[in-house]
Amino acid sequence: MAKLTIDDLHLSYGSNHILKGITATFAQGEIVALLGRSGSGKTTLLRSIAGLEEPSKGVITIGNAPVFDGAAGLNVPSEKRGLGLVFQSYALWPHKTVFENVAYGLRLRNAPKAEIQQRVGAVLDGVGLGHLGDRYPHQMSGGQQQRVALARALVYNPPVILLDEPLSNLDAKLREEARIWIRDLIKRMNLTAVFVTHDQIEAMAIADRVVLLDGGRIVQAGTPEQLYTEPVSLFASEFMGTNNLVKSRVQDKRGGYVQIELSGFPLWGKDRGGKAVSEDATGVIRLEQVEVVGNGTEGGSGGEGENRIRAELETSLYLGSHWEHVFRCGAQTLRAFGRPLAPGPHWLHLPPEQLWVF
Ligand SMILES: Nc1ncnc2c1ncn2[C@@H]1O[C@H](COP(=O)(O)OP(=O)(O)OP(=O)(O)O)[C@@H](O)[C@H]1O
Ligand SMILES: [Mg+2]
Repeated sequence: MAKLTIDDLHLSYGSNHILKGITATFAQGEIVALLGRSGSGKTTLLRSIAGLEEPSKGVITIGNAPVFDGAAGLNVPSEKRGLGLVFQSYALWPHKTVFENVAYGLRLRNAPKAEIQQRVGAVLDGVGLGHLGDRYPHQMSGGQQQRVALARALVYNPPVILLDEPLSNLDAKLREEARIWIRDLIKRMNLTAVFVTHDQIEAMAIADRVVLLDGGRIVQAGTPEQLYTEPVSLFASEFMGTNNLVKSRVQDKRGGYVQIELSGFPLWGKDRGGKAVSEDATGVIRLEQVEVVGNGTEGGSGGEGENRIRAELETSLYLGSHWEHVFRCGAQTLRAFGRPLAPGPHWLHLPPEQLWVF
């Protein structure tokens, strides 16, 4: 069942057209990451859903009730939409305890005392802060403050929770931990969540579905796997992973594959861009898909072959769990992961189904 739907939403700031026709559906209990680079309109879209910005056109529906309808002149005020909001800055009240920070909204709504006690206690337990209700924000770490901000948004049991880069003030390790427990908590509460981030790893880790925005438009929406393995454009493939790019020209086409060329080596790749023979095209292959097959001296399968290039190892970086190697083949640089390698020439295999040509 759709919990939140957005239909052809447009928004302008003055003469700047920012949201250019956003259409999306969010299912009950689904976590959706809104992903895009700085300025792509993520916050603007989130604020529009929350009722903090007024779009010029389109419809936003929460549950079965429209909360914004440009044509009908309907714009339900933010406080009546009752959504949970979590922002990058935690915006806690410094002179209220953790408990009172979380209880504030319930008190405004005149909730009975016993209910406040029960709900705040439960949500603080949920974010792992049940024992710290009496502390003040300045007595908490950044990660703990972020948990309070989340608890404050969850305490009403909102139909939809909107999170705008909630983890960006945390250090790398805390961020990784937070992805796990936030996802877990939202799933346990069966909430519908829209999670804004510009970090594609975070988006994939936390969300059931990713919506990629560029310039106020949706470029692609799908599961993390779909976005990672079947990007619809060069932009989407560049955004979702770390790639080698091969600028070339289409030499040949056959059965869904096109042939390009890298410093004289012919390479077949999947036709993802529909380019015609002799048109300029770009080959994209994820770093982890480049296979270092050998240096040609061991015999066996380690030498020349179909979709293989011979490249000189330029440098190797030790990254703890693996090595990253930088190769050169003519004017082209190629990066690949692998075990430690000897200096000198190596044969690299670029599997055709992993080389996407746009
Ligand atoms: N109040 C405003 N008045 C005018 N322009 C604005 C306003 N808020 C945002 N913009 C512009 O709208 C565009 C989208 O901004 P938005 O904040 O939605 O981007 P974002 O995707 O959230 O970026 P970031 O990752 O940097 O947070 C930007 O070009 C921005 O300059
Ligand atoms: Mg933003």
